[in-house]
Amino acid sequence: MMKRFPYPTGHDVPLFLAPMAGVSESPFRRLCRGHGADVVVTEFLSAEGIRRENEATLSKLRFSADERTIGVQIFGADPMAMQEASALVTDLFQPEFIDINFGCPVKKVVRRNGGSGCLKDLDLVQEVIRSVIRGTHLPVTCKIRSGWSEEMRDPVAIGLRCQDAGVKAIALHPRTRTQMYSGRAWWEEIGALAAALEIPVIGNGDIKTAEDAYRMWRETQCAGVMIARGSYGQPWVFAQARALIEGRVPLPTPPVAERFAVALDHARMVQAYEIDPQGAAIEFRKHLGWYVRGLPHSADLRRRLHQVNGFSEVEGIFGDYLAAAARGDFAEDGLLAAACSATTSADAERPGIAHE
Ligand SMILES: Cc1cc2nc3c(=O)[nH]c(=O)nc-3n(C[C@H](O)[C@H](O)[C@H](O)COP(=O)(O)O)c2cc1C
Repeated sequence: MMKRFPYPTGHDVPLFLAPMAGVSESPFRRLCRGHGADVVVTEFLSAEGIRRENEATLSKLRFSADERTIGVQIFGADPMAMQEASALVTDLFQPEFIDINFGCPVKKVVRRNGGSGCLKDLDLVQEVIRSVIRGTHLPVTCKIRSGWSEEMRDPVAIGLRCQDAGVKAIALHPRTRTQMYSGRAWWEEIGALAAALEIPVIGNGDIKTAEDAYRMWRETQCAGVMIARGSYGQPWVFAQARALIEGRVPLPTPPVAERFAVALDHARMVQAYEIDPQGAAIEFRKHLGWYVRGLPHSADLRRRLHQVNGFSEVEGIFGDYLAAAARGDFAEDGLLAAACSATTSADAERPGIAHE
């Protein structure tokens, strides 16, 4: 039986861009929506910051109409603060849903029982959920890990408690907090949760390619699929996954000039959104590194991209690389064209993970 999502999804099996601090910001969310993500979620925002109307926190809540369907993710372990944050987000920003973060493993957050810290106390989890629901007329969802520790690992018990408290969908990243990002995500736990709950379960974890997304959906029967790191530098992964789910042959990974064009598109969106252009360009360096991952002779290209201080520099650097390729400068390393159309592996390089 198909489980209904509490917000518009566009497709029966929606594809989600995961919340990622410092990555899933408004421009990247817009880009991924344009490339086939059905639903996006903001990075996690502190309930305390929202209720105190902290300027930096509120600025991260800005989004544009073309990002919808969008959820705003909040975290905190103080039920009152969570209720107030939920009310404020609803009044000021009107997303389609509010998502609660019960997955963040970082010390600064779990020390105060926020994020996955809540998973040590399922009464608290339920209290937080009920408070957030009291603050809003919007549907409330949550994102969980499989438990606080290996001893406490029980995603089905956690999911049942969340469902009982009133959430309308759950995303599961099947690792425990103690695992952080090590080991593999246990997809079989996504399957078990999907079978146990009446609400839709969104599967997440270790999707590096469109094929992985398709395989997760088939193997676990999850209602939706959420991609985090697998979207780095390859937003087209969503369109490719959609094709596989619909039984079509996906478009190949774009050749290098097209990849650069997507990166420039992304850069233009960042420029239009951010107030401090130089700071934004420096922040954007990581995305540039992801877009050129796996390209032949990319050492110099990456070095130059990692030094940009303004967006105007990027086009010239890409242009130089394409000109060198056209001159045949990279010929001794084999066919550039072949390398540039090869599927990128999101696994090749992963930056330090700071948040969840
Ligand atoms: C840089 C980074 C930031 C993240 N920030 C958040 C966050 O704000 N909220 C959240 O629920 N999860 C966050 N996560 C966790 C991801 O949403 C996801 O659960 C995890 O990366 C596993 O999925 P993946 O294997 O597709 O990357 C973050 C992950 C990364 C890598």
